[in-house]
Amino acid sequence: MKASDPSSPRIPGHTLAREYYVSPEIFERDVEKVFFRHWLYAGHESQLPNPGDFFTYEIAGESIVIVRRPEGDLRAFFNLCRHRGARFVQQPCGSVRALQCRYHNWTYGLDGALKVAPGMLDMIGKEELGLIPAWVEVWHGMIYLNLSPARPAVRVGEMLQAAEPAVKPFRFENAKVARTITYEVKSNWKLFMENYRECYHCLSNHPEFCATVPVGRGVALHQNTANIRIIHAPNLTFSNYPLRPGAR
Ligand code: FES
Repeated sequence: MKASDPSSPRIPGHTLAREYYVSPEIFERDVEKVFFRHWLYAGHESQLPNPGDFFTYEIAGESIVIVRRPEGDLRAFFNLCRHRGARFVQQPCGSVRALQCRYHNWTYGLDGALKVAPGMLDMIGKEELGLIPAWVEVWHGMIYLNLSPARPAVRVGEMLQAAEPAVKPFRFENAKVARTITYEVKSNWKLFMENYRECYHCLSNHPEFCATVPVGRGVALHQNTANIRIIHAPNLTFSNYPLRPGAR
């Protein structure tokens, strides 16, 4: 098994083969099998405090609208008008009474049902022309999406159950989004995730971080030392790091 063989999954202790980072075909497969099949963190409930509040979430060429209904629950829909496929929501966020496509004014309720299709409503099967839903769940105030056509095999709460004792004290459901920063990184997503998963680079690149929490040289990374709490579970590794003495 060679590292340059794209059919080989991985040599233990090495990165994936080059093609896994540069091949457009493998990237397409990643999108289909990872991003369009698994739960994705999309935002926080505090972004949608009132009925009709919505925001859009963009991923791999898809746009998803997440909206709060008058009943209080959240719904998510592909941002795709059932008439001619226009994106019916153009803004990143806002508040609406109904979801209206401005191209020919087809209008959908916040449950996704088609309500208005000027001059056409009697001619079409409106029951079949509701918005295409995406799966949405909330865990401790955090909103997760799943774009899979079939019901996801696992619910978010089950998937993250092992992290429950560590997450609960933070009461994220009472948190609010104070500021959002977007980083545009020119890399394959796997390279970015791998960088995130190792903190070997932290000492040389993130001095403020290393001064705040016990990571860096001299502290075994990802081990249960220095009061670092690591939870390993299927689909999940969760770490709790204490602040260094005097850090804020
Ligand atoms: Fe939306 Fe025609 S494409 S109303």
